[in-house]
Amino acid sequence: MRILILGSGAREHAIILALLDEEAGHEIVAAPGNAGIAASATSSARGSVETIALDPTDRSVVTDYALENDIDLVIVGPEAPLVAGVADALRTRGIPVFGPGKAAAALEGSKTFAKRIMEEANVPTGRARLAENLADVEASLEEYGAPYVVKADGLAAGKGVLVTEDRDAALAHATHYLQQGPVLVEEFLDGQEVSLFLLSDGTNVLPLSPAQDYKRLRDGDQGPNTGGMGAYSPLPWLDADFGSEQAFVDEVIETIALPTVKQLADEQTPFIGLLYAGLILTTRGIRVIEFNARFGDPETQVVLPRLATPLSGLLLAASTGGLGELPRPEFRPDAAVTVVLASEGYPEAPETGRAIEGLDAAASVPGVHIAHAATAIGAVTEPDVDPPLLATGGRVLNVVAVGEDFGEARRRAYEALGHLRLDGGQYRTDIAARVAE
Ligand code: AMP
Ligand code: GLY
Repeated sequence: MRILILGSGAREHAIILALLDEEAGHEIVAAPGNAGIAASATSSARGSVETIALDPTDRSVVTDYALENDIDLVIVGPEAPLVAGVADALRTRGIPVFGPGKAAAALEGSKTFAKRIMEEANVPTGRARLAENLADVEASLEEYGAPYVVKADGLAAGKGVLVTEDRDAALAHATHYLQQGPVLVEEFLDGQEVSLFLLSDGTNVLPLSPAQDYKRLRDGDQGPNTGGMGAYSPLPWLDADFGSEQAFVDEVIETIALPTVKQLADEQTPFIGLLYAGLILTTRGIRVIEFNARFGDPETQVVLPRLATPLSGLLLAASTGGLGELPRPEFRPDAAVTVVLASEGYPEAPETGRAIEGLDAAASVPGVHIAHAATAIGAVTEPDVDPPLLATGGRVLNVVAVGEDFGEARRRAYEALGHLRLDGGQYRTDIAARVAE
């Protein structure tokens, strides 16, 4: 297949590596991609990868490119093109696209829209109130009590949510986001978090294997919320809580995914793409804390290396309405761990432009590969010397390690991190520690 993938992060790199791993041998174009994605082309024997400078949020540029280049499938990585209506534009022109239209992507783009859909579909989620002004906020904080949860309505790249014991901090956060519109005050939900990805063709869903993300910057879940500092999959403790991973997944499909997909279909805004259910397992049952309309980052980097079923067939079937005929995707029992290497100053003000070294040594650790999140090749400074690899954003590289068990995967990941050099670089040392004991 000729596949166009929109985005430039480690999630897109992980999707491309999974596609390159297939027997079929695809021609892949990444727009705009990154330095690691461009380099995967040479390391694969089967397929090809090309990166092109193209604005992934520009509807007509993306559509024209797909038509002119006989693209068989477009995969949308990040949320921005979805919210910009890129999937609608492609679908109107008859191009198969994995990603929901603008209306259904509001499940991620607007927390109030998501709450309304969940209410209509009877999907379990935290109680929440929409506050239009500070007096509303104060009343809701009073009603739910501490810890306080205040959420901006729109996309805020992980910064819109504050969970705090400090009432003044909750009010300050609300005051800031009230300038942009109403904010949501939610009851605090206590329990383990799970990210479950579900492929949807608008009617049917198929689950991938669950993962757990580490959202806080520092060890022990300290520091600010980030886009995600690491992840692991599968979640062995689900067996104790639910009997098996499958029993857990079945419950999420029945009580959360299918009702949500049906509600969106009934409203003539079908959800075609990846329904990311962000869940908290409370003592009173499973609750949705958020939906996203695309693959999670960094969870994708640990879910896809375990996928045994070819990814392209699944995504094409979701895009063309054929998921109902397919069996559930299969996963290898391996343990997968990813640790994110981030720039100094992330998440508030990342220092960029610094050189990264040691990639070859890191990638030579058995079971390890590196997914690039924000990298570019620098300028040539001396003849006969390779130009440096530069960090261009907050989250820079994801070390991904697969092993027979979590102890092995973790040892491999951290051995690889020991080879990487980035001035001021930061990473958590406790990713998957709880499952490796
Ligand atoms: P969200 O952007 O909605 O996923 O929120 C980011 C993070 O804040 C989540 O991954 C949780 O760790 C935390 N969070 C959000 N909502 C709640 C809640 N109602 N109770 C407890 N923690 C929450
Ligand atoms: N890892 C969280 C997200 O992708 O939103």
